[in-house]
Amino acid sequence: MPRGNPKLQRMFSNITPHYDFLNHFLSAGLDITWRKRAVGTMALPAGARVLDLCTGTGDLLLEVARRAGARARLVGADFAQPMLLEALRKTRRKAPRQPMLFLSAESENLPFPDLSFDAVTIAFGVRNLWSTLDLCLKEMARVLRPGGRVYILEMSRPRLPWLRRLYNLYLRTVVTYVGGALARDRPAYRYLAQSIIRFMGPDELRARMLQAGFHEVSYRLYEWGIAALHVGTKGA
Ligand SMILES: C[S@@+](CC[C@H](N)C(=O)[O-])C[C@H]1O[C@@H](n2cnc3c(N)ncnc32)[C@H](O)[C@@H]1O
Repeated sequence: MPRGNPKLQRMFSNITPHYDFLNHFLSAGLDITWRKRAVGTMALPAGARVLDLCTGTGDLLLEVARRAGARARLVGADFAQPMLLEALRKTRRKAPRQPMLFLSAESENLPFPDLSFDAVTIAFGVRNLWSTLDLCLKEMARVLRPGGRVYILEMSRPRLPWLRRLYNLYLRTVVTYVGGALARDRPAYRYLAQSIIRFMGPDELRARMLQAGFHEVSYRLYEWGIAALHVGTKGA
């Protein structure tokens, strides 16, 4: 039974042609830096099996490919077909020798057997899940092997009140109006801005990961808390 939100699925499908450019433009390239830093923290065994959820156009998986080498077995999943097609095109161009599989799947209902992966990643995806976040965390834990790790990179909340106010203003104005105009889809960019403003803080996300059964859950903040990387380990 589908659990993902069909409206969101359509929205992400529609913005695919502008997605990469606007991501880099509106974050002044910080999204690229954050993915690199997140992947830089990953200790992957040789031949690692890595699943990237909400993979979008595959940027995080490409970074994993760069670090993990050609023996890694990489899978990207997303519920928006146009995003997956773009991921396929881009990875064929940028990493032609790297075997990668892209498939259509909801993050709350994964088509993989238990214990299939050494690591599960998700970048800028969990804030779109909201009511289904716990379901997704459970699915991540199910498909990970014992000792495997989950890496969650997401936009967060700057701790300094003045920076948070400035940042929220940036989201409400530049992201909503400039992003909306360039993508010719203002509702989509209003949603993206609001989803950042409304998303939970890093301590709450950590608590939800612990509740889902992950151990040793920790997080680090990037750029004064504009983004955060949470890491958790599946117990034995
Ligand atoms: C903000 S984009 C992030 C894409 C990519 N990970 C990145 O680093 O740029 C969010 C992605 O999550 C996907 N998505 C949102 N909700 C989903 C769900 N419930 N199941 C699967 N994919 C989902 C969207 O289609 C979109 O490609």
